Amino acid sequence: MKDLFGQALLDYHNGNYTEDIITSTSISGEDILPLPYLFRDFNEMPKLEQKALKLAKGNVLDVGCGSGSHSLYLQKNGLDVKGIDISKGAIDVARNRGVLNAEVLNLLEETETFDTILLMMNGTGIFQELAQVSKYLKHLKGLLKPNGQVLIDSSDIKYMYEDDDGGFWIDTNANYYGELDYFLSYKGEKETPMKWLYLDFKTLMLACETVGLKCDLILEGEHYDYLACLRQK
Ligand SMILES: C[S@@+](CC[C@H](N)C(=O)[O-])C[C@H]1O[C@@H](n2cnc3c(N)ncnc32)[C@H](O)[C@@H]1O
Repeated sequence: MKDLFGQALLDYHNGNYTEDIITSTSISGEDILPLPYLFRDFNEMPKLEQKALKLAKGNVLDVGCGSGSHSLYLQKNGLDVKGIDISKGAIDVARNRGVLNAEVLNLLEETETFDTILLMMNGTGIFQELAQVSKYLKHLKGLLKPNGQVLIDSSDIKYMYEDDDGGFWIDTNANYYGELDYFLSYKGEKETPMKWLYLDFKTLMLACETVGLKCDLILEGEHYDYLACLRQK
């Protein structure tokens, strides 16, 4: 990984904002990911994220914390927060913005336990593909303190397969429709392609059942997105 995402966060944080990140996926063309969005404050966050922050309690793990926007809000509200990210640039920015406990760490390498684990901005993306969901869910379950909760958001992206006359072109012989190849470029450089998973709520719930987690739908967003809360059964 070249860490272009981290480079973009560093540029923005250091006042060198000249262009945005460009993304595309295996089923969609180029899209702009505006850097200011990655530095949003509470009032600029989608309702699902605001709800998750309101539900957070105890000591919190912010997984894939990026520039630390969610961690900072919780920290300012008196919670004990740890932000982790595989992007070194992101962790440098999170620390510089004031996140007291931020570490370059893959979720699967985390060993501490938490009352709340947050995965925001399509949290299921980190699972990468359907075949890995159980592994990640089991690991998350093991990081929960008694009565702990995982707050995670995602979207049912079936709508992306809808054609102009309302039909769907999902290939039922192919992999799960939420499994995408994700491409990112910044300042003309291309990041190593990665896998990014969108999970509809029902599929997430079924996967939770197989690993002994209870999965509740907390809130639905305006565009097929939702916030779920996972707890030990
Ligand atoms: C879509 S960004 C979201 C950033 C931030 N949560 C936000 O809402 O602005 C996803 C983040 O997850 C990080 N990430 C991806 N896989 C990870 C993993 N296995 N462990 C920790 N962080 C990961 C990426 O580096 C990236 O910063």
